[in-house]
Amino acid sequence: MDRPNILVVGSMNMDLYVEGANWIPKYGESVPCGHYGYATGGKGSNQAIAASKQGANVTMVGRVGADEYGRALQEALRKEGICADYVTADPDHQTGLALMLLNEDGRYVSYCAMGGNDYIGEEDVKRALEGGSFDMVVMQLEMPLETVYRTYELAREKGIPVFLDAGPAKSIPLERLKGLYILSPNEAETAAMTGIYPDTEEHARQAAQWLYEQAEPQYVILKLGSRGALLYDGKTAEVIPCFRVKAVDSTAAGDTFGAALAIRLCKGDEIHDAIRFAHAAAGICVSRLGAQVSIPREEEVFEFLKKEGITVE
Ligand code: ATP
Ligand code: RIB
Repeated sequence: MDRPNILVVGSMNMDLYVEGANWIPKYGESVPCGHYGYATGGKGSNQAIAASKQGANVTMVGRVGADEYGRALQEALRKEGICADYVTADPDHQTGLALMLLNEDGRYVSYCAMGGNDYIGEEDVKRALEGGSFDMVVMQLEMPLETVYRTYELAREKGIPVFLDAGPAKSIPLERLKGLYILSPNEAETAAMTGIYPDTEEHARQAAQWLYEQAEPQYVILKLGSRGALLYDGKTAEVIPCFRVKAVDSTAAGDTFGAALAIRLCKGDEIHDAIRFAHAAAGICVSRLGAQVSIPREEEVFEFLKKEGITVE
């Protein structure tokens, strides 16, 4: 498939990031930090931008406020050639805002004011699904859970495979998501859903198996930060290491990983090759500051892989 058609359903946030947040304060304590800035983000729109940069035709479903941040987020999508016709500027709610507190290792803690994201509904998704034809639906959990379930059910009725990036961390019943194509949580999300923190390969395998039994996807893929990813297909579990990079800011790394993986699978890659490509895309993202601005294009990922001695057809 040359340019897959992808529907991304999910959150759009303005990110306010603060660097040098090297410890997590107690109540009443204030941590002196370094530089700060604003970046367009949100798990949904990061995935949309990443999918488009990897060579997909992307349509986004989301909700922002009728405000300056909402306009900036819509503009970022349009600039990237993404169809934003199903992004509603909602006059009754603010645009989502994520406060991203980054430490020296490029990792973050974050607070997210959900704003319009909390009002993405089934009708928004229905309109988009009726307005186009899609090879895959990509979504996450930064929206109402009922919308996550309904998106899956509506896509399934049309025979469209669904990729669920299970962030942010929530403990959710997986019953209504049985038959997903891919379920992909990070470490904290895995722990929230399964009660097993994937700190060792054995714990990661146990958690993946638990998720597989609950949701019966084709693949469970755990994102394990600098340790790479664990792939489980119902029979075998395998850790696929990522690339060594100097980590600056991991914001959007997971979103980039998921979107790149989804697009490579649509383009016909075998699963291991798709994961390696996704690791390269996410590794580049981790080595730069910011959310969407740090996501590489397909050509840059090919270059990166070439330098690592890996050729992609
Ligand atoms: P995010 O920080 O965007 O929320 P996440 O927590 O969902 O990401 P992670 O497991 O942190 O997901 O990272 C996703 C992918 O990013 C990894 O599978 C890996 O490919 C890449 N990655 C993350 N951290 C590093 C690192 N320190 N070095 C190299 N690659 C990394
Ligand atoms: O996954 C990273 C994203 O999570 C950030 O861009 C922030 O908006 C939060 O939603």
